[in-house]
Order: sequence, then structure tokens, then C-alpha cells
Amino acid sequence: MTVCEYKPGLEGIPAAQSSISYVDGKQGILEYRGIRIEDLAEKSTFLETSYLLIWGELPTKAELEAFESEIRYHRRIKYRIRDMMKCFPETGHPMDALQASAAALGLFYSRRALDNPAYIRQAVVRLLAKIPTMVAAFQLMRKGNDPVRPRDDLDYAGNFLYMLNEREPDPLAARIFDVCLTLHAEHTMNASTFSARVTASTLTDPYAVVASAVGTLAGPLHGGANEEVITMLEEIGSVENVRPWLDNLPPKSKIMGFGHRVYKVKDPRATILQSLAEQLFEKFGHDKYYDIAVELEKAVEEKLGPKGIYPNVDFYSGLVYRKMAIPTDLFTPVFAIARVAGWLAHWKEQLGENRIFRPTQMYTGDRGAAYIPIDQR
Ligand code: ACO
Repeated sequence: MTVCEYKPGLEGIPAAQSSISYVDGKQGILEYRGIRIEDLAEKSTFLETSYLLIWGELPTKAELEAFESEIRYHRRIKYRIRDMMKCFPETGHPMDALQASAAALGLFYSRRALDNPAYIRQAVVRLLAKIPTMVAAFQLMRKGNDPVRPRDDLDYAGNFLYMLNEREPDPLAARIFDVCLTLHAEHTMNASTFSARVTASTLTDPYAVVASAVGTLAGPLHGGANEEVITMLEEIGSVENVRPWLDNLPPKSKIMGFGHRVYKVKDPRATILQSLAEQLFEKFGHDKYYDIAVELEKAVEEKLGPKGIYPNVDFYSGLVYRKMAIPTDLFTPVFAIARVAGWLAHWKEQLGENRIFRPTQMYTGDRGAAYIPIDQR
């Protein structure tokens, strides 16, 4: 096979064969292992969905209970990891703290028994169990507090919100948070998943795979957009200012939370998140930034809809997280908590038929150039 056309951003080029998730960007369909995201959001839980993604089928009741209980058991982090995190600057971004802590897990756990299913299972469990604890611990430590110990009587989502806010969450908020994790768990060959697969293909350890993916997710064109959406809504400030703000944007500006390489209609996850936001506002009070967001969606659709620019997953997620008292700069770490499931599914799939990633390039530089001694330059 000869591929000679260069596609910036590898647009349209398959980088792997995968049976984990499927997107139809024209019809706005997302499926995990063939199951529609709407069904999983309504009927499943994040841990059940993670099991589905990673092992390829829905667990039986006994399998799910065993998986949940292993994760509960491994939620705590070693005091040496906590002490290391205490030394991180409190002004640092939580995504940097998460990337460093995820990589540090690799220092403590045995490496690279990649052909041993028990090793794979343990790595999956440790990463799913410990990443939320590390995100919450950094949040409390940067405020000068001691981290809160995980609570075994709370489920995955409830325990995270408890560790973060130091109080037991409202059951509706915990259920909605769990749905948010399900929605963000996996999304085909996005930038961070590609990064995870490239790292996995070198047969390094899974902690390095996740650390690499966290670094990729952090950028404002990927997971980092959810933070930028809130900043943008605050800058717009009022419903009346939406259209003047949009009309005054410099040409070619990117509106955060809109547009997607694959979706040319509204992202199905944005539709679900919008309805979750409405449920939260009904119970806990309205947020004026939601009205600004709805007006902005209308205005952007009128202006850019014909180009296929619609809300993506990041547009409404921040409004949901704000209502749960999650600080803005934790939105992307929360995204990472969920996406660990997808990264691990791709790690496992990559190991199945591994060949190291080694693409080519189109060289555009000089050939045979003379070396000029430094005193003659
Ligand atoms: N606002 C305004 N115009 C846009 C936007 C946007 N958010 N996104 C794309 N466009 C326009 C571009 O200006 C371009 O127009 P042109 O053809 O006239 O030059 C056209 O749509 C195609 O845009 P590209 O940047 O080439 O699209 P690409 O597929 O490379 O980028 C991306 C996709 C990065 C998501 C882009 O839409 C963007 O930057 N969005 C804002 C950031 C964001 O919300 N990121 C989160 C994505 S979801 C996720 O990663 C979890």
C-alpha cells in the first residue's frame, strides 16, 4: 500500500482497527461496543460501562460486584504519593498534577507483565480506583487541607464528590455525575486516545500510557475546552450581549465548545448533558450562564450551522460541574477520570495485535547542506 497524500492532523486516516466505540458524525450517533450512548447514560453506571469498554461485554451481576469491590479496595493512594503531591505548587494546574501523579504510580507497581491477564486486570483496577483519589487529594492539598480518605460505603461517583467537597453528595448530583463519567468514557480515535495507543505500542507500562494521554487531553483544543467555555460565557456576561459578542469576534476565531472533527451535527453527548444541566437547575436553582449558553447555541447555529459547527461534549459539561461546586480548573481532570476507561480499553486492544507506531513524514528541508563554522555565521 502506498499512501502519499499528506493529511494535516491525519484527518480521515485510520490509525487502528478497533471494536471499542463507533461514531456516526453525520447522524450524531455514538455507541460503545455497539450500545447507544443514550441507553448507557440512562441504564448503566460508569463502572459497568468501563467493564464493557475494557472487556468487550457487559458484566454479569457477579462480575460487576467483583469489579466494583476490587476498585473500592484500591481507592487509597500510598502516603508517599500523597507526600509527593504535597510538594507540588498549589498554583500549578491540576492536569499537570494528575499527569505527574499518574506517572508516579508506575514507580510503585511492578512493570510490564503485559502478557499476564492478572497484571492487566490489576493495572485497570488501580488506575480506575486511584485517579479520582489523586484528583481530589490535589484539590484539598492546594487549599491547605489534608486529603479526605475514600469511603467504602459510597459508590464511585458519590465517593469522588465526597472526597472533593468533604461532604456527602446529594443522590441526584451523584447519579448525574456518574452519567457524566459514562458520557466521557470513550470516543474513538481522539487525540488523547491516539496518544495512549502510540505509547502503548512501545510496550511501556500502563501508568506511562495514562500519563501520556492525560498530557494530551490537557490542551484547549481537546479536553481543556470545557474550562474555556465557562471563561467565554463569563466574558459574554448576559443574554443580550451574545449576538454583539459573536459579531465582534475576530475572523477565524474558534468558539469554545463548538465544532468537532467528526460530528457535523450536535454531539449526542451535548444533548444529554444539556438535559442533565436542566435537571440540576430544577433541583438546585438556575444558573444565568445556562441562558447565555442556550442563546449562544442558537446564534452559532444560525451563523455556522451550515458549516457543521454545533455544540460538542465540552459545551454543557462545565455548567453541570459548576452546579456541583467543582472548580473550573478541575473540569479537565474530571474528564480524565472518565476517559481513563477508554484509554485502558485501547491499551488492552493495542496489546492484542501490537505493532509499534512508526509513521513516516514528508521531508521539506534542505539536503546536503554545508556545515558553516561558528565564526563564519
Ligand atoms: N468556532 C468557529 N469556527 C470553527 C470552530 C469553532 N469552534 N470549529 C471549527 N470552525 C471552523 C474553522 O474556522 C474552519 O473554517 P474554514 O474552513 O472556513 O477555515 C472549519 O470550521 C474547520 O475547522 P478546523 O479547525 O479545520 O476543524 P478541525 O477538525 O481541525 O478542529 C476542533 C476540530 C479542534 C474541535 C475545532 O472545532 C475547535 O477548535 N473547536 C473549539 C475547541 C473545542 O471545543 N474543543 C473540544 C473538542 S471536543 C473534545 O476534544 C473533547
